[in-house]
Amino acid sequence: MKTLIINGSPRLDGHCAAVLDYIKKNIDCDVINCCFENIAHCTGCDGCTDGCCVIDDKMRQFYKQIEAADNIIFISPLYFSMLTGALLTFASRFQYFYHNPVRGKKRGAVILIGGGSTKDTSKAFSTAKIIMRYTAIQDPYEAAFVGTDISAPLDDRDFKNDIDSIIKIGRII
Ligand SMILES: Cc1cc2nc3c(=O)[nH]c(=O)nc-3n(C[C@H](O)[C@H](O)[C@H](O)COP(=O)(O)O)c2cc1C
Repeated sequence: MKTLIINGSPRLDGHCAAVLDYIKKNIDCDVINCCFENIAHCTGCDGCTDGCCVIDDKMRQFYKQIEAADNIIFISPLYFSMLTGALLTFASRFQYFYHNPVRGKKRGAVILIGGGSTKDTSKAFSTAKIIMRYTAIQDPYEAAFVGTDISAPLDDRDFKNDIDSIIKIGRII
């Protein structure tokens, strides 16, 4: 069972990283840190209608990783009530999957972490779900903690329970 985590946080010692570390201790997974991969944004050229993205960057490797994964988890800080720009840039390249659909079904989860300045997670969740549909994921698990200005996500019992449920998707064979 392969789990791929796509991380939108630019802080490798931040709150998303702490949640990521907790997940990594419990399941075998690969992580793509979007902020450090220099992935170009989709230009909408429609070149992928011929079966290959024309942009020659590491996304070609990531397409294979995404296709091979059984579970995909997005984790992102809330930036202006949305996924981070780096994650959205990365996800823009999922347009490839619109023209080259992923076969089979995968399970997914979306984890959002916010400071507390805005408490609205609905737009970020719905955008993440739209992106995930491109990788054959319907109805991903959702977990959010909005309050890192005051406390750490894993100190919140409800959030930790939600993360433990998400960890289980990486364990079921
Ligand atoms: C550019 C920017 C925009 C942010 N927008 C929001 C927001 O809309 N709502 C919110 O609750 N927190 C917002 N925050 C706070 C972050 O979501 C919060 O600090 C989060 O814990 C960061 O995750 P990290 O520690 O993994 O970087 C924002 C932070 C930054 C830097």
